[in-house]
Amino acid sequence: MQRRHFLAMGAAATTAAALGSRRLFASPAAVRHPLWLPPELRPNGITLRANAHAITSGTGTTGTAMTLGDGAIGPTIRMRRGERARITLDNALDEETILHWHGLKVPEVADGHPRFAIGTGAKYEYDFEVTDRAGTYWYHAHPHHRTGEQVYRGMAGLLLVDDDEQDALRLPSGARELSVLIQDRRLDADGEFVFNPVMHERMEGFFGDVGFGNGTPNPRHEVDSALYRLRVVNVTASRITRVALSTGAPMTLIGTDGGLLASPVTLTHLDLGTGERADLLVDFSQVPVGSSVMLVSQEFPPPYRGGMGMMGRGMTGAKPQGAPLDLLEFAVTRKVTERPYVLPALPAIARLDPGTASRTREFRFDSRQMRHFINGKEWEMERVDERVPFGSTEIWRFINDSNFPHPVHMHEVQFQILSRTGGRNAIMPWEAGWKDTALLFPGETIDVIAEFNAHRGLFLMHCHNLVHEDMGMMMNYTIE
Ligand code: C2O
Ligand code: CU
Ligand code: CU
Repeated sequence: MQRRHFLAMGAAATTAAALGSRRLFASPAAVRHPLWLPPELRPNGITLRANAHAITSGTGTTGTAMTLGDGAIGPTIRMRRGERARITLDNALDEETILHWHGLKVPEVADGHPRFAIGTGAKYEYDFEVTDRAGTYWYHAHPHHRTGEQVYRGMAGLLLVDDDEQDALRLPSGARELSVLIQDRRLDADGEFVFNPVMHERMEGFFGDVGFGNGTPNPRHEVDSALYRLRVVNVTASRITRVALSTGAPMTLIGTDGGLLASPVTLTHLDLGTGERADLLVDFSQVPVGSSVMLVSQEFPPPYRGGMGMMGRGMTGAKPQGAPLDLLEFAVTRKVTERPYVLPALPAIARLDPGTASRTREFRFDSRQMRHFINGKEWEMERVDERVPFGSTEIWRFINDSNFPHPVHMHEVQFQILSRTGGRNAIMPWEAGWKDTALLFPGETIDVIAEFNAHRGLFLMHCHNLVHEDMGMMMNYTIE
């Protein structure tokens, strides 16, 4: 394994105590590190080299990241709708891997199905046209049985799509546009990343107790007293992240998985399961210079059913599901006075009409006897579980018969949520617009509608809790 030190995060670390008495969050002071801002690459003719290298993961300690390139997490790939992407994956890991472009509609051979995984020293060429709306997407490793550990160690990156529709809004950009890939990791005494789901974690999922942003432990970022566009991507193995500001201040949600919403939503928190994204406007103009606001995952009762969890809590690790976790400190360091940004009307979204759906398919998610099933089956590499006619519109009904939440993800389509019954019994305010992943709590049924009209081929639908996914809570479907 290659051991390189390239990020001197420790040297530049600032202690929370140094921020003085105006801290607005209560958690014990942790040494905080400047948020790593990955380089932005254009997609035409780039090579992403998968490799393992040491990164500073805490005070003077190192963990082994597996990632693309030299950073703590993969580079950001910034694409434009209509553009061609030609990307080479170069596998310098000592195990197999393959990359998937989460949320994009790409041809079958570019979708990163585990059967396309390549071995050490091999290369894989991706060539596709970007047809998706402007939005916050991401890419990550997708090899069989190893997605969880590879993503946990950093085999992921941000994928941004821009288009004319979005440009017209003149959203905050440049230094006022920030993106953060959220992770939670466990560190051993040497600062090495631990990923070893034990028995009950193979049911619940794996939870770390240190919040990472863009591969940076306990990140901190200096901001102006101004309005920011903040995109949040949940890249955790299993954690549902209840995204909020430590001040309780409202945020404006302008986009979700598949791009901009038809109208903005003001909220003080929103829940993201693994794989889900939020595009937010966050206003620091009222925050006094010299003070900080923490982006946190707020405490919530984990949505477990039955005898699971102690005292309504998850059981795994120091920060189980639902425990509060600090994600990213914003230190307001510069006073600016600017004309307030007024968000123009957002572009309309055509609602898919359930009347045009040719059929409804049911998928039952169940977890029992240390195994995870969809319609009673565990995933097999070559078995085709469903066949969908190309060009059709269908309703897919996801039913949770288990005691655990499942973030359900479909490759190759963006869907709209038609209904949720049982459990929370409502479509949440942050679930409007186009989605590719949706949280399904125990006892819930959600109906989603999608058009299968982008490409023919074999694609996946799966639970995006990476522990469940690797254990086979996944199915193959064809568009033919
Ligand atoms: Cu993020 Cu199979 O997906
Ligand atoms: Cu995906
Ligand atoms: Cu699951």
